[in-house]
Amino acid sequence: MSLPPPIDQTPAWRALAAHATATRNRHMREQFAKDPARFDKLSFRCGNLLLDLSRQRIDDETVELLLDLARAADVEGWRDRMLRGEPINTTENRAALHTALRLPAGGNLTVDGTDIAALVHGELQRMGEIIAAVREGTWRGITEKPFKSVVAMGIGGSDLGPRMALEALTADQLPGIDIHFVSNVDGTDIARTLAKCEAETTLFVIASKTFTTQETMTNAETARSWLQEKLGPGIIDWPRHFLGLSANTGVPGKFGIRPEQVLQFWDWVGGRYSLWSAIGFPIALGIGMDKFREMLDGAHAMDRHFATTPLNENLPVLMALAGVWNVNFLGSPALAVLPYDQGLSKLAPYLQQADMESNGKGVDRWGRPLGYATGPIVFGEPGTNGQHAFYQLLHQGPEVIACDFIAPLKSRYPIGRHHDMLLANVFAQAEALMRGRTRAEAEAELRAAGADDATVAQLAPHKVFPGNWPSTTILLPQVDPYHLGMLIALYEHKIFVQGAIWSVNSFDQWGVELGKQLAKPILEELTDASIQHPHDSATSGLIALARSQPRS
Ligand code: F6P
Repeated sequence: MSLPPPIDQTPAWRALAAHATATRNRHMREQFAKDPARFDKLSFRCGNLLLDLSRQRIDDETVELLLDLARAADVEGWRDRMLRGEPINTTENRAALHTALRLPAGGNLTVDGTDIAALVHGELQRMGEIIAAVREGTWRGITEKPFKSVVAMGIGGSDLGPRMALEALTADQLPGIDIHFVSNVDGTDIARTLAKCEAETTLFVIASKTFTTQETMTNAETARSWLQEKLGPGIIDWPRHFLGLSANTGVPGKFGIRPEQVLQFWDWVGGRYSLWSAIGFPIALGIGMDKFREMLDGAHAMDRHFATTPLNENLPVLMALAGVWNVNFLGSPALAVLPYDQGLSKLAPYLQQADMESNGKGVDRWGRPLGYATGPIVFGEPGTNGQHAFYQLLHQGPEVIACDFIAPLKSRYPIGRHHDMLLANVFAQAEALMRGRTRAEAEAELRAAGADDATVAQLAPHKVFPGNWPSTTILLPQVDPYHLGMLIALYEHKIFVQGAIWSVNSFDQWGVELGKQLAKPILEELTDASIQHPHDSATSGLIALARSQPRS
């Protein structure tokens, strides 16, 4: 089989590189002044969700050239292969079918003779029954008291999605059960959480695709010991306090979890794409099954849009292309995710995994080293908090940091003028990054404030903003389950399209393995002073230092 040329050696890539050089000195300020319809032309909709790309450093020609790149990378072909359930995760020989998790009831998807939609809806039905049993108190703890606390234990994709979504949807949460999350193997995490719970009324939800992840299994064992300690070491019925969520359904049984207390998902659901599956149990428990299904419906609406809309109006495709333009042609190393909604405070950590674990790769899907940058460094904080922390660097730092501003038009907690103030800030930030402030404007402002010539000369350089920094604005009607589903699916598909263009496998994560592997012998050495494995002098020195100190 002859391989396609690396994407950076295609005519489409070269045309973009030439276009980037030719337009280097163009300022968006002038483009807005020249074309009053710029916002209308470069903002796009899917239902009530608006994606404004008018403050990206692009014009009609850039968009055309980027669309050529998408065609050269066969984005539509890869999309269709993904949606059909082909094993596009070639290093693990798996499909990436998270879109099947949000198919409506009666949806149609058969892969290798298996009715995937029926599988998904069967498990959703079981999830609903378990949630009803927990909420209605027909499933109780050993002492027959109903559960009041649920502690969800997982890490990475088995934690970040539910944590992010529940935080986003506090306005939808049902009373009666407190939901906690424990992810870190640092004992502080579980110790602090257990201090808020009573053993008799606590249900532990162990979420792990593999059910072998060290952090999660260690926390689960500690939870089991805690229960036994609190409720009597002889209790044999402790499994009543455990629910498992896994794709490796044989393994929870080895831990002691009963088969009927395991919700299943499948190897074709990537960990960082799994909040729509059984891993979403804490979300569904928190907001109820109906609202969880609304979240799935929102994601499905975005899936339909992604699958059927021409590339030049397709939100995930256009958003991805703007990102590729920033990373590869404007040299932007980072993407700031800036939600103007306190509920979305966990969005940036969630997208860090979704984006950086998917596209932070060094070889293409055929194993060839990449000659170009891939995934940006993703970071972020809710506005306006970030404005008073790191925005300084966004506005006047030397590098192009692309920004995604995300804002709901309506607050779930409307109080006085708070929301108008929030919106004023997000709109102003995007405007400031785009416009900047020239030296002449800075001087004029200082003079108007009464500064003398010396002060003007001294301060003006510090008050100049280059502007022309790219940002995307995403507006939602409000952060409710449906629109949160749309928003997350938008990002998932954006990441997918970028992976397709960069020719990487967005669904494996070999880069997380080496550290895990090396931690094993080190743990042996920390546990048993007679063991000594060979290391570099830094690692050996640190181990020796740790061994010489009391650690508990
Ligand atoms: O270490 C990375 C990773 O494999 C993620 O991809 C995954 O989401 C996380 O660990 C947790 O894995 P599991 O769900 O199997 O416990």
